[in-house]
Amino acid sequence: MGITLYRSPDLLMMGEGSIANIGKEAKKYDANHVLVVADAFLVENKIINHVFDYLTNENITYDINQSIIPEPPFELLERIGSEIREKNYDLIIGIGGGSVLDSAKILSILAKYELDLRSVVGTNLVPEKGLPFFLTPTTSGTGSEVTWNAIFTDEKDHVKKGIVSPYLLPQLSIVDPELTYTMPPSVTAATGMDALVHAIESYTSLRTDELNKAIALQAIKLINKSLRKAVHNGKDRVARADMSNGSLLAGISLANAGVGAVHALAYPLGGKFKVPHGVSNSVLLPYVMEYNVISDLDAFVEIAEALELQTDNLSKREIADEFVSYLKQFVKDIGIPTSMSVFGVTKEDVPKMAEEASKIERLLSNNPRKLSVNDIEQIYYNALG
Ligand SMILES: [Fe+2]
Repeated sequence: MGITLYRSPDLLMMGEGSIANIGKEAKKYDANHVLVVADAFLVENKIINHVFDYLTNENITYDINQSIIPEPPFELLERIGSEIREKNYDLIIGIGGGSVLDSAKILSILAKYELDLRSVVGTNLVPEKGLPFFLTPTTSGTGSEVTWNAIFTDEKDHVKKGIVSPYLLPQLSIVDPELTYTMPPSVTAATGMDALVHAIESYTSLRTDELNKAIALQAIKLINKSLRKAVHNGKDRVARADMSNGSLLAGISLANAGVGAVHALAYPLGGKFKVPHGVSNSVLLPYVMEYNVISDLDAFVEIAEALELQTDNLSKREIADEFVSYLKQFVKDIGIPTSMSVFGVTKEDVPKMAEEASKIERLLSNNPRKLSVNDIEQIYYNALG
């Protein structure tokens, strides 16, 4: 048994209406002038106007940056960083999906000092902390609000790369399900599946422990109960709250135990074929699980039980097979394709994708079953249908 670590934001605030505290919490950091990094969609549709009011009520002035694009490139962050360094902000607030939250983390650093982002790709390479920052998600999936990862696209080789540092953990995360009510069904489905993948992969990660397993299992139960409902009726408040909590729990488990081969194999699909992160994870999930189950049948039986699958009179192996079939149906139920060919991937693309995925040792080393390049190719071929 090894020694495990557990990290989280300084403060987590959860529940309907919790966003109303953001101004008061900002004042605790002596904030007078704040940069809000927000999704353009939320600003343009006035969905987060009340958040700005909470700042104004505390006499806090703010600027809004709404220029973050999905899977943002390093250059965009470095450009914004050089613009904001002169503005003397005393707090950064990120409000949006995973790309916005990851960007806010890095901008808290770049608002304080200049940094070549490519030089800090990897773990523990950010030299010192930046400005205080708060994160509040408007999707239920990435878990970015509780992780110390930030993922960007390197436009030089079109590969997604991660910066991992404890300085990327926020002082405060506010997880308010009301902010997810306007999320469209396709985004609800993709981000919700990302959360389910976080929970399953961190539960079976070689770095997991009892604390993370308990957290991940509860995430699996909540997401299984409510993701389909949230996709089909976005106004279902209970389903939205379950997804907020499930995503948060999955994010905590991911932050501490890591994710594995689903994420590693999803990266080339996302990078080259521009498939959104949650969708690429969803497509690959059943095929990677098909490969993984024999590594730890007991763990996958525990997950099958959390998913309330019928396991009477079945062997562990049969339960694991049921689990894989259930995942394929689950992905279909929420309108996500179960084959990579839908995104234009062909057999000819597989060797290059497998070679690229095999280099993501940061994730593959967590996976409960080792993968050779040939194993990865075979999983990709299976995922072509
Ligand atoms: Fe993810």
